[in-house]
Amino acid sequence: FGYLNYLVKRDRRFIADILINGLHRLEYRGYDSSGIAFDGDDVEGSDTKQSLKSRRACVVVRQKGKVEELEHVVRSLENIDWDAEFTVHVGIAHTRWATHGEPNAVNSHPQRSDEQNQFVCVHNGIITNYKDIKQYLTNKGYKFESETDTEVVVKLVKYLYDKHKNENISFQKLIEMACSQLEGAFALLFKSTHFPGELCATRRGSPMVIGVKCADQLATSHIPVMFSKDLSNPRFTKDLRGVFSPPLMITDQSASELAVTGNDRSIEYYFASDASAIIEHTNQVIFMEDDDLAVVKNGALTIHRTQHGEVTGQSAIREIHELKIELQQIMKGNYKYFMQKEIYEQPESVVNTMRGRVNFSAKKVVLGGIKDYINEIRRCRRLILIACGTSYHSAVATRQLLEELSELPVMVELASDFLDRSTPVFRDDVCIFVSQSGETADTILALRYCKQRGALIVGFTNTVGSSISRESHCGVHINAGPEIGVASTKAYTSQFLALVLFGLVLSEDSISKEPRRKAIIDGLQQLADLIKKVLECDKKIREYAEALYKESSLLVMGRGFNFATCLEGALKLKELTYMHSEGILAGELKHGPLAMVDHLMPIVMIVMDDPVKTKCMNAYSQVQARGGQPIIICNEDDEELIKLTSRHIAIPRTVDCLQGILCVVPMQLLSFHIAVLRGYDVDCPRNLAKSVTTA
Ligand code: G6P
Repeated sequence: FGYLNYLVKRDRRFIADILINGLHRLEYRGYDSSGIAFDGDDVEGSDTKQSLKSRRACVVVRQKGKVEELEHVVRSLENIDWDAEFTVHVGIAHTRWATHGEPNAVNSHPQRSDEQNQFVCVHNGIITNYKDIKQYLTNKGYKFESETDTEVVVKLVKYLYDKHKNENISFQKLIEMACSQLEGAFALLFKSTHFPGELCATRRGSPMVIGVKCADQLATSHIPVMFSKDLSNPRFTKDLRGVFSPPLMITDQSASELAVTGNDRSIEYYFASDASAIIEHTNQVIFMEDDDLAVVKNGALTIHRTQHGEVTGQSAIREIHELKIELQQIMKGNYKYFMQKEIYEQPESVVNTMRGRVNFSAKKVVLGGIKDYINEIRRCRRLILIACGTSYHSAVATRQLLEELSELPVMVELASDFLDRSTPVFRDDVCIFVSQSGETADTILALRYCKQRGALIVGFTNTVGSSISRESHCGVHINAGPEIGVASTKAYTSQFLALVLFGLVLSEDSISKEPRRKAIIDGLQQLADLIKKVLECDKKIREYAEALYKESSLLVMGRGFNFATCLEGALKLKELTYMHSEGILAGELKHGPLAMVDHLMPIVMIVMDDPVKTKCMNAYSQVQARGGQPIIICNEDDEELIKLTSRHIAIPRTVDCLQGILCVVPMQLLSFHIAVLRGYDVDCPRNLAKSVTTA
C-alpha cells in the first residue's frame, strides 16, 4: 500500500493513519508481519548541492505479527513530531507473507538500501534471480541484513544511483534500469530520500491498482494528467490545464509536457495490491498492466512502459475506471468474523450471481460476457477447467453436469499440476479458468500457457479488473461481492452456480435437454430460500462441533455430485481447524480408506436421495460394520434414512446437480464452529494467504 499527497496539507499522524488503515484493509490476504516507511524530520548537515532534496529523513518501522502490533510500535516511537505538516509526502506500507526467510522484523518490508533508508521498497512476488544479483552486489561490497529476495532490488537501485548520480539521473530511470535486471514476479513501490515527494510503482505478474482523488473537492475530471501529442483527439493536447472528462487516459509522453506547464492542483494517490484498500478514499482507479512503471512527480502521474514491456509493443495509455464496490460491502457488519458473514450472505450472493442472467419465466439463461463466443465453445474439442484450491472444487462439482449438458469431454485440472505435466493443449480447446481473486499465480501461468497454444480462454472470476479477467478472451464475473475471509465460502457457491449457468447456456440449442434445463432453472429460483433453510441448522451443527472439536481427524465421505462437497468440506476443516481431514470418494472406500475406520474415527457422510444413494448406503453399512458412527448429511424428507440414524443434519431437497450448493453449507458452518471452539483465527488461518500471487 502506498500513499502520496500533493499540495494538500497532511500531518504525520494523518499519514501514518492512512498507511496503517491501508494495511488493515489488506489483512484479509493473509500475512505474518508488516511494516511502513514515512518521512522523518529534516537531517542537518546533509549534502548541500542537493540540500532541498536530501534533507528529509525516512523512518522505517517493521514488526512481526499483526498490524495492531506494528501500529503500537509506530505510536510509541520517540522524538517524532506527529503534528508536522507536509504538502507533499510519500508513504509506503506492506503486509508480508513469508516466502524467503522467516517472519521477523528484518525480513519484513519495507526493505532498505542502507541504514539511512536512502531507498526503500515494498514487494509482492518472487525475484527468481535474486541470488545472482546478491552475489554481484556482495562482490561490490554491499552487506545484506535480511534473507529476502526483495533486499537485492532496493540495494540494486542504490548501486545504480551511486554509479549514475553525477548524471542527474531521474528516479524513473533508476527504477527502470533496476527492473530490467529482475526476473520473476513482482509488484513494487519505491520511495527515496533523494527524490522526496516522488513515488515509483511497477509490476510484472503481481497485481497493482492506483486510486486517484482530487483533495480539493474538484471533480476527478480535473486530475492534472496530460495527454500525449500523438493521441488522435487534439482537444486534449491544446490546453494542458483544461477540464477533461473521464475516462482519462495517461501516457508516458506527457511527462515532459507536464514539467513545462507545472500544475497547481491538490491531489492524493493511493497504490495497493487490490482495490479494497483504496475504495474508502476514491472509486477512481487505474489498473496497472505488467511492465508498467507508474511515476508520481510534482503531483502528476505518468505511466511508462519499461524496456521489458516495450517488447510487447503495448501502449502506455490507461483508463481511469470507476469502481462500483462500497466499503460497507467489505466490512463485517453485525458478524464477529468475515467468514461467518460470508457464509450467511450466500442467500444473497447466489441471487447476485444470477441477477440479469436468468429469466425464470422464459426459462432462459444469458451470459453477456460469453454470448459472442458460444458457438465457438460448442464446437470445441474439449472443455478444460483449470483452477486451484476451492475454485478447483467448484470445477469438480460441476464437471458431471457440464458433461451431461454439453456432451463434450470435460477435463478438470489443478493449475500447478497441469503445468508440471506440460499438458498438450490445442487451438480448438476451450480453457476455463476459475478464480475468486483472478490473481492466483498458478492459474495465471496456466492461462498464459493455454493462450500461447491458441486455445480460447474463458475466465470465471469474482474480481472485476483482475489479471485473469483482463487476460481472458471472454468470461463470466461471478458477482459474489468481496470475499475477505481467507477460506472461501460464498465465492465457492457462486462459482459453482456460474458454471451451472454456463452449462445451461451451452445446452440451449438441444431440444432433448429442455426438460432437464427447465427443472434446473426452477431449482435455481428456489435456491436462495433453500440456503436460508440450511442456515437454520446452525445450532445443531454447533452442537456437533462441540462434540468434535477436540478430535484430531475427521473424514468426509460421499460420491457423485457430492464428491466435490467432500473435498471442499475437508479443505475447509484443514484450513480453519488445522485438523487432519480427507474428502473420500465413497466408491474408493474399500480400496484403502476403510482401514482407517473404527469406533473412534470421526466421520461425516453425505447421503443425498439421488441416483448414487444406494451406493452411498453401501458405504454407510461398511462404515457401521467397523464400528463407525458417522454424522449423515441427508435430505430432510428422506424419512427412511433419518429413521436409521440419530446423528444427522437434514437439509432441503433440490435438483441433484444443485444439491452440492446446499450440502457444502453445513460443512462450512461445522469448520467455522470447530475453529472458533479451538480458539483459532477464523478469518486469517495460519500459513495461508487469500490471494497467492506467487507460483
Ligand atoms: C488460496 C486461498 C484458497 C483459494 C485458492 C485459489 O490458496 O487460500 O482459499 O481457493 O487460493 O484462489 P482463487 O482466488 O484463484 O480462487
